[in-house]
This record gives sequence, C-alpha cells and structure tokens, in this order.
Amino acid sequence: MQTPRLLLAAAAWLPIATAACSKPAEPPPPTEPAQPEAPAEPGVAAEPEKPARHPALGAFQPLPEEMGSPDNPVTPEKITLGRMLYFDARLSKNHDVSCNSCHGLDTYGVDSKPTSSGHKGQLGGRNAPTVYNAGGHLSQFWDGRAKDLEEQAKGPPLNPIEMAMADAAAVEKVLTSIPGYEPLFKAAFPGEEKPITFDNMAKAIGAFERKLLTPSKWDDYLKGNDDALNDAEKAGFAAFIDAGCQACHSGPYVGGGLYQKLGLIKPWPNQKDQGRFDVTKNEGEKMMFKVSSLRNIEKTAPYFHDGSEASLDNAIKMMASHQSGKELDAAAIASIKTFLATLTGPLPEDYIKQPALPESGPDTPKPDPS
Ligand code: HEC
Ligand code: HEC
Repeated sequence: MQTPRLLLAAAAWLPIATAACSKPAEPPPPTEPAQPEAPAEPGVAAEPEKPARHPALGAFQPLPEEMGSPDNPVTPEKITLGRMLYFDARLSKNHDVSCNSCHGLDTYGVDSKPTSSGHKGQLGGRNAPTVYNAGGHLSQFWDGRAKDLEEQAKGPPLNPIEMAMADAAAVEKVLTSIPGYEPLFKAAFPGEEKPITFDNMAKAIGAFERKLLTPSKWDDYLKGNDDALNDAEKAGFAAFIDAGCQACHSGPYVGGGLYQKLGLIKPWPNQKDQGRFDVTKNEGEKMMFKVSSLRNIEKTAPYFHDGSEASLDNAIKMMASHQSGKELDAAAIASIKTFLATLTGPLPEDYIKQPALPESGPDTPKPDPS
C-alpha cells in the first residue's frame, strides 16, 4: 500500500491535484464504483453556469505555454542551439545516434520500440518515454533519477549503450571543433568566459525541450469550451474517473506528478526492474515508478517501462486491474480509450523542423564504430 507521504513528492501544481485526488489515491474498495463527487474539492471546478461538467475535472489543468525553469530560463538563442544539439549525431561516438534517434520528434517523441538501440545497436533495458510535455514532470526517467531536463540531458551522451562518448571533456572537444557552434554558444550564454561546456550543452537542449508541448482539444475543454469534446469523449472521461485512473493520472500532464507502486493492488507480472528502489535502495520504494503522463498516449506504444505491452486496450485493462483493482469489460476499455485520444495534440511542425547543422572542422573527431 502506498503512503500519503508519496503523494506529496509532487511538482508545484500538485497542491490542487493532490488535494483533489488524495481520497481516491487510497484505492477505493474494488467492488464499489467511484463516487463522482469524491475526487474534486467542492468549488475547484465549479462553473455555476455549466452544471453538466464532471466534478472531477478540478484535478486537471491545461498545459502551460512553456514548461519553465528558474534555473534555466528559456531564450530564443538557447532554443536555436538546443534544437541543433538535439539532432546532432556527432555527440555520439560513431556519429550515428542523436537524441532524435530514440525520441523522434516527428513520431511523438518516441522510437516505437519496446527498448531502444543505441551505440553498436545495443539494446537498453527500458522503453524510451516521450520528450513531449516531459519538462513539467516532477522528475525525469521512469524512476525519477534525474531532477530535471537539464540533468537528464547529460546522461545519454555518456551512456555506453546510448551515445557512448568517453566523458564530458570528449563532448566539449567535439563541440569546440565545430566552428559554427562557437557563436551560437556565445549568443545562448552571453557574458560567459567559456560558453562551450557540457553543462551548457545540457541547458540548451533542456531549453529546447521546455517548449515541446502538444495542447489538444482536452485543453480547450478544460479552458471552458464545452463543445471541444463530444458526448462519447465526455463519457470516456467519466469512465476514466470510474476506473480510478485519476488517483494517479491527473494534473496538466494527466500523470507525471508523483511516484506510485506498479502493482499497487495486484502484483505486477514483471518484477525484474524494481524502479526507484534500484536508485534509492529504500525498501519502501520497491516497484515504485513515476506515474506516466497520458498526453499523446495513443501515439506512443509500446507501453510501460519495459515496453511489454503493444496494445493500448491491454494497457488500460492491466492498469485498472493491477492499480485500481477493477476488471474492465471491453466497452469500458473502449470508452476510456476514446477519452485518452482527446489527449493527442498536433505536433508543433515548425518548432521541430530539423535544422541545418554547422559543418565539422579539421579537428572534429572521426566516427568511431568500436
Ligand atoms: C539510445 C536511445 C536513447 C538516446 C540516444 C536518448 N534517449 Fe532519452 N531516453 C531513452 C530511454 C530508454 C529513456 C528511459 C530510461 C530510464 O528511465 O531509465 C529515456 C529517457 C529520456 C527522458 C525522460 C522522459 C521522462 O518522461 O521521464 C528525456 C527527457 C530524454 N530521454 C531526453 C533525451 C535527450 C535530450 C537525449 C539526447 C541528449 C536523449 N534522450 C537520448 C532512450 C534514449
Ligand atoms: C495507483 C496509481 C495508478 C493508477 C490508479 C493508474 N495508473 Fe496508469 N500508471 C501508473 C504508473 C506508476 C505507471 C508507470 C508504469 C511503468 O513504470 O511501467 C502507469 C502507466 C500507465 C500507462 C502506460 C504509459 C506509458 O507511457 O507506457 C497507461 C496507458 C496508463 N498508466 C493508463 C492508466 C489508466 C487508463 C488507468 C485507470 C484504469 C490507470 N492508468 C490507473 C500508475 C497508476
């Protein structure tokens, strides 16, 4: 059983979401249908002139304009540079893997494989989550081991099975050897004596990612446009609430705000990866994973940290059974899926267009397949 303490490990917006869902987060008894009036605090979502709105809507908010960070303010110069770095395979040992290889921006930020292949085609142990709307999560990675995007971006270049660079100095050497990067780093980090650093690479990439947002008709609905969802989609939301999903999946990202035990009610089949426990060695965190955001979920199969489930229907069924103690029939699954599809937003085509990259210089290290 989870403890309320864990529900508090949450991002800034969560006071609302946590308050709104703290009750159903103590999972409701399996047989009792969720009470529609339980999840929302009285008054949170109340819009007197629109009485038909579901009271549980108070646990959800529209996406922000930008997933900002006081530590790394987003500027146009950082975005321009960060976009290039995101696509630049020269940040990998064999010049054949970039962030975009595993998080294809034109494929909703994923590679659609159970687990990703990196340097020399080596397979990792986890599924690549999407980079869209990730900046607002309480932390990064399935187990939350990086505190933010900027810390996260320092991982892949040095991971031997991802981009396989020897160390931060090797990455800085590559960046320094590409003449076109110097003015771009200077512009992005004005006044810094030595702007080309591994940290600044991560900051530029992080700034770029902080605007990878995909608002959808769900946001229009939350902002008050009652016609943004049709009746089937509204019924799907009610089914989502009835199945207890919002106890964990709420807030602007419909998830991403807390850690929870995978297999809370019924043990999860795959116990190999123990999630946060492997990071913290804290007994209470066995099988604890970051609750996934459900934004664009219909586009980001396969599902779960091990990429074990290809079908969204089955993923919904498993979640209800293992997390909420409810066995859903096909009609309920289809209805929830109809709601989840409203969380798909159009891709920001202009923002994600692959930029021309600056040419290598004479000192740029050659690809190394070893
Ligand atoms: C070889 C494939 C691969 C490459 C290359 C790669 N990633 Fe990832 N990425 C993954 C996998 C797999 C995970 C999940 C790992 C985990 O949770 O332990 C991940 C996790 C993330 C997350 C966390 C998202 C979340 O919801 O928690 C972000 C953000 C991210 N990657 C951004 C990047 C950036 C930026 C780069 C380039 C610097 C990059 N990735 C390169 C495979 C890759
Ligand atoms: C008790 C908390 C909890 C509840 C309740 C819950 N989930 Fe989840 N959900 C999680 C966690 C934790 C994960 C991450 C799973 C992992 O690490 O593999 C997740 C992952 C998912 C995923 C896969 C995301 C991905 O990107 O692979 C889907 C889909 C999903 N949940 C849908 C639902 C639906 C639909 C419901 C209601 C029937 C629900 N969840 C109820 C905690 C919960």
